Parts: sequence; C-alpha cells; structure tokens
Amino acid sequence: MTEPTATYLARPEDVQRVLLLYSGGLDTSVMLKWIQDEYQAEVVALTVNLGQPGEDYDVVRGKALSLGAVEAHVVDAREEFAREYVVPAIRANAIYGLGYPLFTALGRPLIAKLAVELARQTGCDTIAHGCTGKGNDQVRIESTVATLAPELKVIAPVRSWKMGRNEEAAYAREHGIPVKGGAEVAPYSIDDNLWGRSSEGRWIEDLSVAPQEDVFQLVTRPELAPDEPETIEIEFEAGVPVALDGTRLGLVELLDRVAAAGMRHGVGIVDHIEDRIVGLKVRDIYEVPAAAILLPAHAELERLVGTIHQNQFKTMLDQKWAYLVYAGLWWEPLRSDLDAYMLAANSQVTGRIGVKLFKGSARVVTRQSPYAVYDAQLASFAESGGLFSQEASPGFIELWSLQSRMAWQVRNSR
Ligand code: ARG
Repeated sequence: MTEPTATYLARPEDVQRVLLLYSGGLDTSVMLKWIQDEYQAEVVALTVNLGQPGEDYDVVRGKALSLGAVEAHVVDAREEFAREYVVPAIRANAIYGLGYPLFTALGRPLIAKLAVELARQTGCDTIAHGCTGKGNDQVRIESTVATLAPELKVIAPVRSWKMGRNEEAAYAREHGIPVKGGAEVAPYSIDDNLWGRSSEGRWIEDLSVAPQEDVFQLVTRPELAPDEPETIEIEFEAGVPVALDGTRLGLVELLDRVAAAGMRHGVGIVDHIEDRIVGLKVRDIYEVPAAAILLPAHAELERLVGTIHQNQFKTMLDQKWAYLVYAGLWWEPLRSDLDAYMLAANSQVTGRIGVKLFKGSARVVTRQSPYAVYDAQLASFAESGGLFSQEASPGFIELWSLQSRMAWQVRNSR
C-alpha cells in the first residue's frame, strides 16, 4: 500500500471514529455516508455556527443524525469568532489582495480548533473535512489540526474520491441523501459567516462575464438601493467597535446591525481575483457589508490618533498579518507577536466615526477622538496658528532637502 503524503493523514486502518466537519451541504452529506461505508467507521458530526445568515441548525443536526451520525453537535461560536478572530482583524485593518476581508480565512482555524476539542471529548481518532485539493481551506484546517493535535489524523474525502459534482449528486440519490433544489444546476460554492460571504464557481470562473444578479444573496444591488443616503456613527474603544449610533451593543449584534445597514445601501460587493497559497489564481465574488464599513472606519480613526511614523509602519505589519492569516498560519508565533503590536498601536484608537452609506459607497464623513493628533487651530487655513511658526518653515525646508539637493548637483554637474 502507498504511504500517505503527509504524516498527519490517516491510513484506512487508523480510522475507527471520525469527527466530521458537517455543513449540511452536498459534499459533507455524501461524506457522512461514504465514511461509514468506506471505513466501517462511526461518524460524529460537528456544525459550527459562525453566524451564517439564514442557516437552520436544527435542520442540519437532524440531517446528520438521519444520515447515520452517532452524535451530531452544533456549537454556537459567534461570540468567540467575533471577539478572538474578527476584532484582531479589525485592529490589523486586515485585507488580502485588493479587497478580501478574510472572513473564511478567519473562520477556518476556529472551526478546526473546535473540531480538535470535540474529537478529543468524543474519542475520535480522525478529523474529516469537505475541502477540495485546490483551495486554501484545506491548508487552514489541516495545519490547525496538525499543530494543535499531533495525535489526531485527517481525511479529506473530496480531495481523494474523484467524484465530480454530478457523480456526487448520483451518489446522494442512490443513498437517499436529500439534495437542495434537486441539484439540476450545479450550485455556487458558498462560504459565509458574520464577517462576509463568498461565491465561487459557475460563470464566476469566466473572467469576461460581469456578475449575474442571482449571486447576490446579502447585498442589495447598488442601483436598487434607496435614493436617500444614511449616515451611521460607529464608536470604537481601543480599536474595538462598541456602539452604533450612540447605542452600546454586544459585538455580534453590532456586526449584524452594521451589516444590515450596508446591505440596504448596496455596500460591500467585491469582485476579486485572488492569488491562492496553492498557486492558483481564482475569482471570487464577495459580499462583505459589515467589513466594508467597519474596516475603513477603523483605519480612519487609527490614522487620526497615530503619528506619521506609526501610521507608515503599521501599514507594513497590517499586510504581513493579513498574509499570514490568509495563508493558513493562524497559529504561527509571528502572528501573535504582531497581535501584541496591534494591541499596543490600538490603545488610543478610541472615538467616533460617521460613515455615509449611499448606493454602494461607504464614505467616512465625520471623525472625533480625544486622542486625535490634530489641532484645528494649528491646521487652520484662516488663522496664523499660535504654536506653529510659519517663519520656521524655510529653515526646515533647507535641512530637509539637503541631501537630495547635494545628490542632484553631483549627478547633474557633469
Ligand atoms: N477565496 C477565499 C479564501 O481563500 C474564500 C474561500 C471560500 N471557501 C469556500 N470553501 N467556498 O479564503
């Protein structure tokens, strides 16, 4: 028999009891049956609630049991996700590429961590997930399991079973697995949580096709958004959003309400070409109404309270943070080193930011902070400005430009 390509992959004889990360969709439903047949193993199903809009977790749990799971668990991890994963991302202004706020990349390490915990509690030897071999999610989940639980093994049936979407649908029919919408048309590949939603597949793979309307399930299309703008005010404390329009809210509820405002006004549609870690370039359609408002609001407040040096430096660390998280290295110590910096840099990020929402745009219009490194009188165009001596400026310019002027002379004097 051939050796597994990685030490953490399970050999068939290792597999007795499997913790399956179960979404209730086609892939993981087929997996639930297939694992029982293929390995003669028991399956414990785990579904993690990260705030997927409109999901009925009782139905998902019932479906797992009806497909033969010996146990089916649903864990509500919204609060932990918001506090321990989304908040650090806000502090780090986390965007990958030109507009991906990392919601999936942030969710995977938490999902895999919860799988490890439940696998240990329920005596499972193996964790199974439904990721394909082409994406980033396999990297995020497997590196988490291998890091946190070297004693557990992994199987990834979708990567190895070589069934296409149609064969899976046929398998489902044969084994009495209910399929949403009859699976006549291959569905988009969706992933979502309270920080955003992604769609892949179908026409999205054709770069010459503009987004078709049926892909948008959260955000109102900008052309249909209200003709009246709406300005919302977000209050931050040490980089954490704490209140909306003067009302203090729990984090999950705040994220929810900001998302709702964004959705109404067509905010947060991103059509993104992405460099995956596994080499491929892929197009994703994202709907990120909460992130498209909160990230710019946070970044604006941070700029206001930071010095020029802090602001320039942090941008570089922000990029590194986003890349580590995108690339599935949540547990890498550099990420927590960077988090310590992010925390320090956010200690003064307190204040209020007004954001005007209108037909797809979210624009910062007001700013207020007790820590602003800003003095309206100094900056004033109308006043000569007490402490700021304009007479001193020429001396500054002379010294500031000294090396550049000398170099110019040297290079142009021959
Ligand atoms: N491209 C994004 C990422 O790599 C989103 C992936 C969505 N995952 C999915 N299984 N549909 O993080």
